[in-house]
Amino acid sequence: MKGVILAGGLGTRLYPLTKITNKHLLPVYDQPMIYYPIQTLVKAGITDIMIVTGGNHAGDFLQLLGNGKEFGLNGIRFAYQEGEDGIASALSLARHFVGNDRFCTILGDNIIEDDIRPQVQQFAAGDLGAYLFLKEVEDAHRFGVAEFGSDHQLAAIEEKPKQPKSNFAVIGVYLYNHSVFDVISTLKPSARGEYEITDVSNHYVRKSACGYHILNGWWSDAGTFESLHRASGLVKEMRRKSFGKGKVHD
Ligand code: DAU
Repeated sequence: MKGVILAGGLGTRLYPLTKITNKHLLPVYDQPMIYYPIQTLVKAGITDIMIVTGGNHAGDFLQLLGNGKEFGLNGIRFAYQEGEDGIASALSLARHFVGNDRFCTILGDNIIEDDIRPQVQQFAAGDLGAYLFLKEVEDAHRFGVAEFGSDHQLAAIEEKPKQPKSNFAVIGVYLYNHSVFDVISTLKPSARGEYEITDVSNHYVRKSACGYHILNGWWSDAGTFESLHRASGLVKEMRRKSFGKGKVHD
């Protein structure tokens, strides 16, 4: 299994914080945002990763992360997304890096508490084309939203629906096999002008080749002021629990 972290885009929803840096280098409590998806991959046993980034501050990732040794990575490859025409478009840049492998891709602004190693191992050994992670939320309209059939199978995913058909958000952690790159090459831009990851996953849902798991622990994106603040609070609470009572940081 390989890992791909998508850290492109301009982060305009966080302006002016993103005026002189990349969104994924902003702090989430005690670490830069990009550390969290890297740690999620390493915990899941994935040590071969590519980071796709873009914009004017791409070089700062190299300065911050080096060759990834301090995270226990075998190495980090980088790709540069020109423009910001969507998540699926950013992912297409990882085609040669992934080769014929299966892989886990994480949106650089998504932070999860759970260890996804069991699902990663199951996907690596199985024959599904795609595997998604869901979380029940109160503001499903902000996300890709799962619609279920009568048998609890996924029936469809809707991107930011005005009237969500469930409260289960499709979070920004996806497992795919290499066929995903052929799927991406058939996509058309959505109404908001982006190549959507939801269109990619729907391809596998339609073929009944998409599994899913509902997360037990917390999940947050960190791409708005509200969610960035929330993510910092959740990490702080997690540190408090793991450091023992009372003490967080001096
Ligand atoms: O957070 C989960 C949600 O992320 C999913 O539920 C949605 O289905 C999915 O479309 C996405 O929604 P957002 O609209 O919140 O995604 P956003 O545009 O904020 O991009 C999320 C990350 O993806 C961003 O931190 C970096 C990466 N990205 C995004 C774009 C548009 C790129 O690498 N390149 C891009 O062009």
